[in-house]
Amino acid sequence: MTIIADDTGWILQTAHVAYALGINEAGYLVHRYWGARLPHPDDYPPPPESAGWVSFNGPGQMLPEEYPAYAGLKYVEPCLKATFADGVRDVALRFDHAEVNDDNLDLHLRDDHYPLRLTLHYRVHPDHDLIERSASLINDGGAPIMLERVLSAQWHPPQQPRYRLSHLSGRWSDEFNLHRDDLPQGVTRLESRRLTTSHHHSPWFALDDGRSTEDTGDVWFGALAWSGNWLLLAEATDYGSARISLGLNDWDFAWQLDPGETLTTPAAYAGWTDGGFGAASRILHGFIRAQLPHGERPHPILYNSWEATNFDVSEEGQAQLAEIAAALGVELFVMDDGWFKGRLWENAGLGDWTPDPVKFPHGLTPLIDRVKALGMAFGLWIEPEMVNPDSDLYREHPDWVIHFPTRERTTARNQLILNLARPDVQNYLIAQFDALLREHDITFIKWDMNRNASEPGWPDAPRDQRELWLRYVQGLYRVWGTLRERHPDVLWQSCSGGGGRADLGILRYADQIWVSDNTEATARLRIQDGFSQCFPALVMEAWVTDAGRGQVPLDFRFHVSMSGVLAIGGNLLTWSEEERATAARWVAYYKQIREIVQLGDQYRLLSAHEGPYSAIQYMDKEADHGVLFAYRVWLPDPALLPVIRLRGLIPDARYEIQGVEGERSGLAWMHDGLRLPLANLESTVRTIRRVGAI
Ligand code: GLA
Repeated sequence: MTIIADDTGWILQTAHVAYALGINEAGYLVHRYWGARLPHPDDYPPPPESAGWVSFNGPGQMLPEEYPAYAGLKYVEPCLKATFADGVRDVALRFDHAEVNDDNLDLHLRDDHYPLRLTLHYRVHPDHDLIERSASLINDGGAPIMLERVLSAQWHPPQQPRYRLSHLSGRWSDEFNLHRDDLPQGVTRLESRRLTTSHHHSPWFALDDGRSTEDTGDVWFGALAWSGNWLLLAEATDYGSARISLGLNDWDFAWQLDPGETLTTPAAYAGWTDGGFGAASRILHGFIRAQLPHGERPHPILYNSWEATNFDVSEEGQAQLAEIAAALGVELFVMDDGWFKGRLWENAGLGDWTPDPVKFPHGLTPLIDRVKALGMAFGLWIEPEMVNPDSDLYREHPDWVIHFPTRERTTARNQLILNLARPDVQNYLIAQFDALLREHDITFIKWDMNRNASEPGWPDAPRDQRELWLRYVQGLYRVWGTLRERHPDVLWQSCSGGGGRADLGILRYADQIWVSDNTEATARLRIQDGFSQCFPALVMEAWVTDAGRGQVPLDFRFHVSMSGVLAIGGNLLTWSEEERATAARWVAYYKQIREIVQLGDQYRLLSAHEGPYSAIQYMDKEADHGVLFAYRVWLPDPALLPVIRLRGLIPDARYEIQGVEGERSGLAWMHDGLRLPLANLESTVRTIRRVGAI
């Protein structure tokens, strides 16, 4: 049973984890427990009682409320802040009733006085050891209620002497830097105010007491499934507890909840493990893989033309690249930016999604046919949400962009953002791209988004213009979701100038993510290490390009990309026979290991964040076959290279490692380990095989 109701509340159980909550004597819905699943229901603690009141604090200051609202004598971060029609800004929620349905628990609360209802949704993912939470606000009255903050969840890790927050931050071309920082007393705020998830922070967290490692220790972790403005509040309270709140950003946020209306938040996911940060990542990896629109199936090796041709695309030029790509063993050829009307450079064309008549006088079909005759599938780059002022679409619909009428429309990369909150814009985009996909044999789409919001206005909005932040993302999901539904065989990539839109929300629509515009392999090692904290290799598209050519060996560049979904993005016309032979060899090798890399369990043996010698291992579910990658960037010689201790092997089974002398037990490889001597800028990939396994 995944949900047990006891005398004082509910216990949510996954295979290994339990999360308990209940109603205390004073009537508050409070958190009870989050950690290892315990043998008996009566092992779980009762709901904590309210502390006595003192002059400066009420009970809410210390009580771990599941979903605190701004009310009373309470100053911790609330999940909910609202203003009623009479101006009252205090929400007093009381538990009303509960509903249990298989793996779902709905708790219904209502305000003491006003017609505001709150339903807290809990969903147990028993096989993935995750708890999913979201909230619905319902207006049962006759007057609007203004919502000013509506988060998805507040999580209460157990009390510790110290709290350390692991988070990802960065910038364009340098995304997913991993940081582990002690939480100071107070509130640490991580967020996006940019309309999309952003390169700067990720809606992911891991919390420990400062002593957990990659392989050991308690870690509480989670992520938000939302591709717009988001907020993570990590609060170390004045009384020594910690809370992590996750949800829609309340910055510049407003939602007018009209009579009869319901607003439901995005989903937040959280889990616990005692297996350290690596196990936390593997839990998220398994869950994300299972939730992907096409499920757990390996992704093809693609070629992308961007770094080779930029905007200078033509049928002949692309066909030449395609011929070489096919000879290397590539399975999917993707033409990037530059193919549509007027798109000579980045200053024109976005919005006009028909083939450029000069570059493609007979349309795209002749190129697609040539690509298919070479045995590859065809893919295309689009940027649906954008428009250049120099485009037919903008000349016809200047009012369709996000703007304030009295302010200049700030362009970024010479483009403006279509207001996807508007249903007419959504319908237009659906019609445009539906036609493109109907009229062409396209089985892969790279969906890009190359700027962030400015002047976030919506002059003819039906309600408060600030609803744009949320409605835009709802609109995006509607457009993408409709196109997916109509074209179920298409594989989609989420890109926003690299990794600017990587989150669990977009992965309901996209199958894989373009992690960074930085394709230099040594920089990429660290970016990919950070990305892997949350996301599995199956969604990590990684190109081998010409960045670093002449300095970083081609083998090294391949090995870095082969630890995700291998792709090639260099100018193949300039690759020598020798380089092409090397590429063909690694493409063939990757085809043999790809299932293990893309669908297996990932172990960060030596993190690229921690040193210049890093190693990653992937194992299949049966622990029969694995792949080991090791990379040395730069270490002064002589150097005692780090020992690589494998993970995830069966201790008393015997294994061999490609190119390493002798079979040894799993325990020997995991405890004694091995050294792989590598020179600076040298790397290696080895298969791991259980001896005697089929
Ligand atoms: C973004 C993407 C690149 C490429 C260009 C095309 O920067 O991240 O991969 O598609 O746009 O303009």
